Amino acid sequence: MASYYPDELINEVISANNLVDVVSGYVKLKKSGNRYMGLCPFHSEKTPSFHVSADKQLYHCFGCNEGGSVVQFIMKTENLDFVEAIKYLASRVGISLPEGNEKSSDGEYFQKKQKILEMYVDTARFYHGCLIGDIGKTALSYLAQRQIDAQTITRFGIGYSPDSYDALFTHLKEKGYSDKLIMESGLVRKSEKTGKPYDFFRDRVMIPIFDIRGNVIAFGGRTMVKSDGRKYMNSSDSIIFNKSKTLYALNFAKKNCSERIIMVEGYMDVITLHKYGFTNAVAGLGTAFTKDHANLLARYTKEVVLCYDSDEAGRKAVMSAIEILTTTQLKVKVMTIPDAKDADEYLKLKGAVKFRKLLDNAQSHILYKISRLKEQYNMDNTEEKITLVTNMAKIFSEVTNSIEREAYVKEASIETGISEDVIYAEIKKAGYSAPSAKIKPTYTQRVKSISEGDFRTEGTLLSLMCSDIAIWRRVRNKITADFFECPVLKEIVNNIFSFSPEDKPPDLIMIISKSDNEAVSRLSSLITNQQTVDDGIKAAEEMIEKLSKAKKARQISDIANSGDPRALAQMIKNLNK
Ligand code: UTP
Ligand code: MN
Repeated sequence: MASYYPDELINEVISANNLVDVVSGYVKLKKSGNRYMGLCPFHSEKTPSFHVSADKQLYHCFGCNEGGSVVQFIMKTENLDFVEAIKYLASRVGISLPEGNEKSSDGEYFQKKQKILEMYVDTARFYHGCLIGDIGKTALSYLAQRQIDAQTITRFGIGYSPDSYDALFTHLKEKGYSDKLIMESGLVRKSEKTGKPYDFFRDRVMIPIFDIRGNVIAFGGRTMVKSDGRKYMNSSDSIIFNKSKTLYALNFAKKNCSERIIMVEGYMDVITLHKYGFTNAVAGLGTAFTKDHANLLARYTKEVVLCYDSDEAGRKAVMSAIEILTTTQLKVKVMTIPDAKDADEYLKLKGAVKFRKLLDNAQSHILYKISRLKEQYNMDNTEEKITLVTNMAKIFSEVTNSIEREAYVKEASIETGISEDVIYAEIKKAGYSAPSAKIKPTYTQRVKSISEGDFRTEGTLLSLMCSDIAIWRRVRNKITADFFECPVLKEIVNNIFSFSPEDKPPDLIMIISKSDNEAVSRLSSLITNQQTVDDGIKAAEEMIEKLSKAKKARQISDIANSGDPRALAQMIKNLNK
């Protein structure tokens, strides 16, 4: 992992931050033996599978497989990169880091971030005060007309930005924020003409945008004037806000979304859905759906139901969200809203019961794509029908479950009069024959197969040699990385050999900081889940023996498969020795 701090300094920062203390700031931990357990902050769960090992200083969640050291923990919870996480941890314990970064040093960057977060809370309070105060009458009646009640206003922290050029600026100055910091927040900007500061949001209903922990990190402001060209104005990306990684209301939804999340287009859709009891709804922030959004969703739920606006823009957006979402393991469904432009309008028109029905009848993304396809072709025209069925077969080729695929093919055959065999032939052409190459198993599935299958010995040996100096000394010269067949374990072992001196057990924290995500998760899982072994050295030696045999067998089969006559001859010679 690239970083410009010396390893010793990184080590110092890491060891000064006790993992149990740091995690306790986020998760309620309960001691159990020599480890701590709690509810995982990275996915939603009811029984604790999040383990923290105090002596190993590693955590691992056996539910979602997130794991690592205090650095990974802070990277994930605070959404920071490696260097930022080191800075954060350094400032947490008062260690000063050398200069040399554009973002300045010594936790100054984080102090600034912290200050700006405070400024956003103060701003949200200010806007809310304006809404319920004298100047907020029009905005309040606008909200009432949109059926947003007092309780909803409070829950979502809705406010009003006064029709003034400097109301917020003056307020923030009075609160003691410096001009420089206020300008940096994006809430107040400088006029290009006059150079004077002006409030960015004016005369709008203000919707605070929260991060996953409930910090206010941005605002969306809706005009109440029909003719105003810009219906919504939104905060730009900033030191605390990244649109393409944020989902509106996920901070609320995260408590109630382990089975399913409803993804809508607008703030107002979310607000109305929550009001009607669908508290698992979130929205993007007026930008296209990104891979980051998909990964974020995958951390919290199993299924995403896309419930976008019924106009053509909404339908297009659904198609592109499907393409991104289906690269994850999420189940993807689509809800179409009849007789209304969006979920907000539908709920107000028809109520929660009808909406629930639509939700329960949401189509799989495959059927949705098929139905969109059918709209484009005229089945009475033979040529068009041929193109349609060919394209349908392409979509069916994405279906991995064969029962599901057969059901689709049957239906398509009846509908189009083209025989199932012919459709299957087209599916094959579209590449179905290689689903295993196309669909990568999830990390969880792979880890499962590693720990339950052939790689159990490899994993156990690795965790033994990392835990005991005597075992490490004994093992070190007897094995090489190619004893390990599992690629993830092999990478870890390679790192262990490059970074661990002979007289010390492998420095896991250092190795973790050099490894990629999968390796980190694998390692933290092995170590936090380690069983005690009676005679570790003996056990390790037996495992080495086993792995050595397996390694030889692999070499032989590699050579046999290669068909290289010279190598084959050499091998036979060696075997006969
Ligand atoms: P919509 O226009 O569908 O928003 O845009 P909406 O929530 O239904 O708006 P209401 O009900 O008329 O108030 C969907 C989302 O696109 C972004 C916003 O995030 C909005 O919630 N958007 C829309 C903008 O950023 N700017 C705009 O001018 C319009
Ligand atoms: Mn809408």
